Amino acid sequence: MKKYLTLVNVFLTFLLFSCELKENNKQIAISSPDETIKVNFFLSDLGEPHYTVSFKNESVIDTSKVSFDLKNEIALGSDFEIVKTEQSTFDETWSMIWGEDKQVRNHYNELKIYLEEISVLKRKINIVFRVYDDGVGFRYEFPKQEYLDEVVILDENTEFNLTGNHKVWWIPGDWDIYEYLYNTTKFSEIDALKYYNPKAHLGQTYVPENAVNTPVTMKTDSGVYLSFHEADLTNYAGMTLAVDTENLKMKSELVGNAKGIKVKRQTPFETPWRTIQISQRAGDLIESKLIVNLNDPSKIENMSYFKPMKYTGIWWDMHIGTGSWDYSGSYHAANTKYAKEMIDFASEHNIEGMLVEGWNIGWEKWWNKKQKKVHFDFVTPYPDYDLEEIVAYGKSKGVELVMHHENSADILLYEKQMDTAFALMEKLEVHSVKTGYVSSIIPEGEYHHGQYMVNHYQKVLEKGMETQVAINAHEPIKATGKRRTYPVAISREGVRGQEYNAWSKDGGNPPEHLTIVPFTRMLGGPVDYTPGIFNTSLKPYKVDNQINTTLAHQLALYVVLYSPVQMVPDLMKHYKEHSAMQFIKDVGVDWNISKVLDAEIGDFIVMARQEKGTENWFLGAITDENKRHLEVKLDFLDADKTYKARLYKDKPDSHYHNNPEVYDIEERQVDNKTTLALNLVAGGGCAISFIPKRE
Ligand code: NOJ
Ligand code: CA
Repeated sequence: MKKYLTLVNVFLTFLLFSCELKENNKQIAISSPDETIKVNFFLSDLGEPHYTVSFKNESVIDTSKVSFDLKNEIALGSDFEIVKTEQSTFDETWSMIWGEDKQVRNHYNELKIYLEEISVLKRKINIVFRVYDDGVGFRYEFPKQEYLDEVVILDENTEFNLTGNHKVWWIPGDWDIYEYLYNTTKFSEIDALKYYNPKAHLGQTYVPENAVNTPVTMKTDSGVYLSFHEADLTNYAGMTLAVDTENLKMKSELVGNAKGIKVKRQTPFETPWRTIQISQRAGDLIESKLIVNLNDPSKIENMSYFKPMKYTGIWWDMHIGTGSWDYSGSYHAANTKYAKEMIDFASEHNIEGMLVEGWNIGWEKWWNKKQKKVHFDFVTPYPDYDLEEIVAYGKSKGVELVMHHENSADILLYEKQMDTAFALMEKLEVHSVKTGYVSSIIPEGEYHHGQYMVNHYQKVLEKGMETQVAINAHEPIKATGKRRTYPVAISREGVRGQEYNAWSKDGGNPPEHLTIVPFTRMLGGPVDYTPGIFNTSLKPYKVDNQINTTLAHQLALYVVLYSPVQMVPDLMKHYKEHSAMQFIKDVGVDWNISKVLDAEIGDFIVMARQEKGTENWFLGAITDENKRHLEVKLDFLDADKTYKARLYKDKPDSHYHNNPEVYDIEERQVDNKTTLALNLVAGGGCAISFIPKRE
């Protein structure tokens, strides 16, 4: 593995060809470096821009048109001519400050098309395509010009016309929240409107039309995987995709506000990238780095103040009802004594962070803005919580506090307090915060995924960069690869997380949930799912709820679900004396290499990752509600080493529903010629650590 330890090896090629096109030459093509993906761009007779995409000579995006509806202006989308095109090739290898892989190759061919209207206004727009071996990104540039100054976008109409009635994994195009179970249906059966239920979620929910949120992932009849998303969502509205189930078409539907405005910008500006990941293997979607590659390089070279970590917390108590956030509740969990006990527990188990929720004033009726009397304040603790003492005690034990800011989506209040709240963290040398945006947005009329909120989440990232605080946002805007540019964007929710298992009234997350999430939500970036509950039956706290996986499946999630912060969320007493705790102690959180060994979306996944800084490998395998036999070749291990493998497995009679908490631990010696036979039970899993043997 020495080659990965060498210093950053950046090689870069940049070639530029510029060509003036003749007026009647209205078509131009560009391919991926390996020539498997081809994009064709052309203008119709009416001067309307169109594109198509093929993969291995099979059409995957049929003729699709792009245009914009603007306020007080004629629509921008026809009467164009191509004034110039430029093609270039780019190839670099960059290092992730933290991530799934130490090094990332960013290799693409680019085509930039300069369009100008033929008649009077001569308005201009450029379309840039980047074609990679793993997919396509394209964006629009609005240059500075006489007749386009302030631009108010009422609709962006980017079409993605499909070539078949694909199998789709989708959630509704909610403007406020992504916390849904994934549906698996034919494209023609997508019915997002049935989800409109304002009472169903912790946050507000608004699904105005039959649309899906991104990333949305599909499989064609010929076995090709496609996933649609966006990259570098900056100062723009989030994109949902409206579906035309009859004609098998999708069209961008930006999230707006009560005033009907989607985006307001001043030229020059550029839109986020519209992305299409394309692959032959399900696992390649996860290994793809298209989304981060389409973001700018990091603004900082290192981030020594933040290290990927596991973190425990005063949190699950509130979700299973053994503690309360508010001081007037029956047991205010965020108290100094409990926090110190948890610090001791964390330091004994190689856990370097501790989150405390409910530490600050304002939690009385926190989710109900109308009834709320005390407002949140992000610097004033409740009387039984000695913030400074806890921070100091944690430091003495190598455990750093993870700050918590639940603002109930009162953005006006939070933005007023942000300076003092972040200054406090800077002073205490607390380097990470979990933020929360439960409920509808104040100012009223804005939605979580609109331009106003995209800009708010951006402000928080910038504040974090300034004060050395990494951000883990709940009820966030979707991940679009900004973690490359702003490495403080460590993780986020934006998924139906573990907490639903504690209180949802619909039976919780089914066993298949996390065999879909890595291929959909997680293509955007890391997820704060909070895996690792050992008391999966939730007895005696919750009679009507349980977690629909085995304990071994929970362990495997530390490998399957990538995040540089991984919670160890269960009550301490459920971990103590448990031999499976050794896996949580050992498992890495920052990686040299990550590989999907085998997978089918919605059925199962087997991941292997090599830890950065050690030569240890970890493997996680999970299955849906079906039991499964898997033969796993260990050919990813170093050829010249033997390893002590520790397998944390389901027992033959384990079952996610009837017998979830039993497991076996097996130790054996393996090398890269070994094939392991894994038997996963229904809802089961297997977690394995591979530690090289010293000669
Ligand atoms: C929702 C978050 O997802 C959850 O983790 C948190 O405990 C509550 N909000 C309160 O902030
Ligand atoms: Ca399945």
